[in-house]
Amino acid sequence: SLPVPSVQEMVKNDAQTIPINYIKNIEDRPKSCEICPISDRIPIIDLSLLTLGDEDERTKLDVACQEWGFFQVINHGANEALPKIKAAVEKFFDLPLLEKKKYAMAANDIQGYGQGYVVSEDQKLDWNDLLFLMTLPHNFRNMKYWPIPVPDFKEVLEEYAAELERVTNEIFINLSILMGLENDFLKKLHGDVKQGIRMNYYPKCARPDLVLGVSPHSDCSSITLLLQDDYITALQIKHKGLWVPVKPLPNAILVNIGDVMEAWSNGKYKSIEHRAITNEEKPRISIAAFVIPGNEVELNPIKTMVDDRPRIYKNDVKYIDYLRYTLAKKMEGRLANIEQL
Ligand code: SIN
Ligand code: FE2
Repeated sequence: SLPVPSVQEMVKNDAQTIPINYIKNIEDRPKSCEICPISDRIPIIDLSLLTLGDEDERTKLDVACQEWGFFQVINHGANEALPKIKAAVEKFFDLPLLEKKKYAMAANDIQGYGQGYVVSEDQKLDWNDLLFLMTLPHNFRNMKYWPIPVPDFKEVLEEYAAELERVTNEIFINLSILMGLENDFLKKLHGDVKQGIRMNYYPKCARPDLVLGVSPHSDCSSITLLLQDDYITALQIKHKGLWVPVKPLPNAILVNIGDVMEAWSNGKYKSIEHRAITNEEKPRISIAAFVIPGNEVELNPIKTMVDDRPRIYKNDVKYIDYLRYTLAKKMEGRLANIEQL
């Protein structure tokens, strides 16, 4: 991987110039004619109702995963943890560059502060900086990357990771039931389940029409839980050929289906392509938690999902093989970002 400057620092030094390697090719730029004018149609799921076993709510979850691949989770019981983790992440990115660099991603590592993997001199870059940390299981935590100068960072991230694990398990129980399986099926299917958290900082940008905060991709997770800025609309998801902006719902956790769940559900639940745009006014922070299975876990469709729909994924693909394949494919293109690892 090649060293890439901090976008945050670049903008601090010169807010007007957009370096050429951030300017997307014309066909990849966020064109307004491809963006859906309506932005608040993402389904809303009440987690407290799911916990009570509410069947109507479970049906809403089923429809959301099939038609959108995204849903906003409310009444998740993590209200206290959300502002704390947002404040901690903001404090990290507010540190002087030299302080942040103490947590820089080492070569061949995926954890740490950086800009994701860069594969060639001429590749187009995304307009963001990130801090990626493995949070679960505990022995995957590499504490040398956990920023000491941010007060309570460790406690706050640990609490947030535990809350997300609880929300994840509730979603897995309900998806298991919807797939005609025992309650604990999906949890067990993950084997040694992992959770990794990518904290994104998108500086403001003088020319949002030329760049992307994050290029289009689908997630290599089973599910992803995203905490975003309460007010700035930046995330867009591909729906019926258009980019639909996801208007933030304050205090909600946005959940999306990743490639692993799409494979297990034999394509019933959709891993949707998404991207993030930038804006001229304010920096934006988002916090994405990826839930991923153990390396040796196979992505074959679950038995109950092949009865009425033909098998659409090849048998015997291990998660680790799928990752290698996806990463190799990305390398041919422009950007292999952290989510592919
Ligand atoms: C991502 O999906 O990679 C990040 C999305 C966001 O920042 O909203
Ligand atoms: Fe993503």
